[in-house]
Amino acid sequence: MERVEKKKFYITTPIYYPSDKLHIGHTYCTVATDAMARYKRLTGCDVMFLTGTDEHGQKIEDKAKEAGVTPQQFVDNIVTGPKGVLDLWKLMNISNDRFIRTTDDYHVSAIQKIFKKMYDNGDIYKGKYVGKYCKPCESFWTDSQLVDGKCPDCGRQVQDAEEEAYFFRLSKYADKVRDLLENTDFLQPRSRVNEMVNNFIKPGLEDLCVSRTSFSWGIPVDFDPGHVVYVWVDALFNYTTALGLYNDKYDDYDHYWPADYHFVGKEIVRFHSIIWPAMLMSVGLPLPHHVFGHGWLLLDGGKMSKSKGNVVDPYVLAEKFGVDALRFFLMRTFPFGSDGNFSNELLINTINVDLANDLGNLVSRTTAMVQKYFGGALPEGCSQWENPEPFDTDLISLASGLRDKYEADMEACAPHKALDEVFKVIQRANKYIDESTPWVLAKDMEANGPRLAHVLYNLLETTRICGVLLTPFIPDSCEKLFDQIGACEDCRTWKAAGIWGSRGETRQVTKGENLFPRIDMDKALEELEELRQAAMAPEKPPIELEPWEDEVDFDTFAKSDFRVVKVKECEAVKKSKKLLRFTLDDGTGTDRQILSGIRMFYEPEDLVGKTLVAIVNLPPRKMMGLESCGMLLSAIHHENGEEKLNLLMLDDSIPAGAKLC
Ligand code: ME8
Repeated sequence: MERVEKKKFYITTPIYYPSDKLHIGHTYCTVATDAMARYKRLTGCDVMFLTGTDEHGQKIEDKAKEAGVTPQQFVDNIVTGPKGVLDLWKLMNISNDRFIRTTDDYHVSAIQKIFKKMYDNGDIYKGKYVGKYCKPCESFWTDSQLVDGKCPDCGRQVQDAEEEAYFFRLSKYADKVRDLLENTDFLQPRSRVNEMVNNFIKPGLEDLCVSRTSFSWGIPVDFDPGHVVYVWVDALFNYTTALGLYNDKYDDYDHYWPADYHFVGKEIVRFHSIIWPAMLMSVGLPLPHHVFGHGWLLLDGGKMSKSKGNVVDPYVLAEKFGVDALRFFLMRTFPFGSDGNFSNELLINTINVDLANDLGNLVSRTTAMVQKYFGGALPEGCSQWENPEPFDTDLISLASGLRDKYEADMEACAPHKALDEVFKVIQRANKYIDESTPWVLAKDMEANGPRLAHVLYNLLETTRICGVLLTPFIPDSCEKLFDQIGACEDCRTWKAAGIWGSRGETRQVTKGENLFPRIDMDKALEELEELRQAAMAPEKPPIELEPWEDEVDFDTFAKSDFRVVKVKECEAVKKSKKLLRFTLDDGTGTDRQILSGIRMFYEPEDLVGKTLVAIVNLPPRKMMGLESCGMLLSAIHHENGEEKLNLLMLDDSIPAGAKLC
């Protein structure tokens, strides 16, 4: 038998900054890449799908300092900790083949070799940087690149910066990069080419500052201590080190490189379509085939960001509506190359209309009818019908031609269009039920049984083909769908999606759970709003505790006599800002007087009648001319540097004089 070599397909997402937990915008890009990777696997390709985390840079160093941990501990928590990056991709059913962390040793040493190579070939040289720096973006800018004096990428304030640094001769590659952008299909969609050429190449590409000395959380330039490699140089080469370039950890660089697609958000297209090819040219490596710059998910018209407090938590949505529903919504709703406005209403509406109404109903109506009219299995011969109605022909030709249309859209990186084609067929199938009126046919099974079986076979076949093509988007739900409609392994394949009639005629159908239950919009919106408010509630300030005392032996401790006391009177001591004078019932029949410096924490009248705890065997002390016989117990801690005090209060039912032990 002839052995067919599988076509390789290497696709990547950007590697994420673990400076904060990821939000729905990050999820969007990874789900899109996952759907593409799954689609390519379905078509028979040998897929390598890479994602990971980009863990160096000043922002991470600063955040770690703020959190009082080392940068490595900080990133470890966000990457591998609970509800971190790895957990999120697992939850979202992301099928990446590899995960790179730029703090991995093999990557670090490979970057040092790459940097040295560019230095040795003269493309990296030492100079002095004078300009502006945007800390959140980790980007240097010249005055002419700023927009209204602010960072052109994120619109935030920039700061003056001057430091000795290494530079990459980006200017040397300007013509070659321009040629690549203008005369090939390297950068997609095409509209991004004009953005890059007009905004960055035409004004003149300047050499790029590629090392830093102002912080240390980066890959050290091994031949010049004090310098760390600019985070974007470190990050971009991940796509090659993760395959084994300049390291022994992996050895499939020759097999998979160059990448077929880098999927990236639009704000990092500049790095991927100008700086990245220039550096690859410098090192003498082949260029990736394509970079696709997708749009942003916006909230109220603006980009989501943690600092704006307008992020949407994918955990909340996935837990509430299901992973597949969320994956589907992201891919179905927003044209991949454009920005789109996220809203909970849109999400719920998409689930209700497309998944519950159209797809869910098609599956449940069809399987219910096969069950009801044929006990779950159609008779032999049901796939054929001699005199088809126009609506039979229409449905069969639409479903038979679906795979080709879908393929064209997926190959053009337009998953939203591919899904649109699938849903046109699903809607056509639901209309077919109304046209073919199975419930009328079922009234006379003897006369119409064969026709009814044919109608239901057509519905099962249409559902199967749509199911195969939906697998890259909603993999778990499609498994359930296949089980319900009785689709064997062989008819779940890409090949079978192009062949009408692949499903065995008599296979058993099993009506199962509703794949996508309808969601009550008002109730769900209300619950989401409650969750949002809870998440927005200010975080509790960190609590600082008093230093712990040295150990005492038990006998010393046991000598302290703690007793329950009741407050008979309480008043502020004249001329003292701090002291309250307590008259206490200590159970002996004689009033006890204690002075306590807690006036700034309590109003004296609020304490009358309270049951407190006092240590009563301390020697009497004089304060402001008054005698104090003991001390009241309270709990002390600090919040935001401010002292907080709470008197120890007991249940009123405990009698005065009771001993604490
Ligand atoms: O850029 N809508 O990491 P990152 C759509 N470490 N996409 C969004 C989005 C939104 N609201 N918010 C973020 C980096 N993204 C670098 C990449 S690659 C060598 C280094 C996308 O965590 C964003 O566009 O800030 C980017 O593609 C990705 O999330 C990672 O962003």
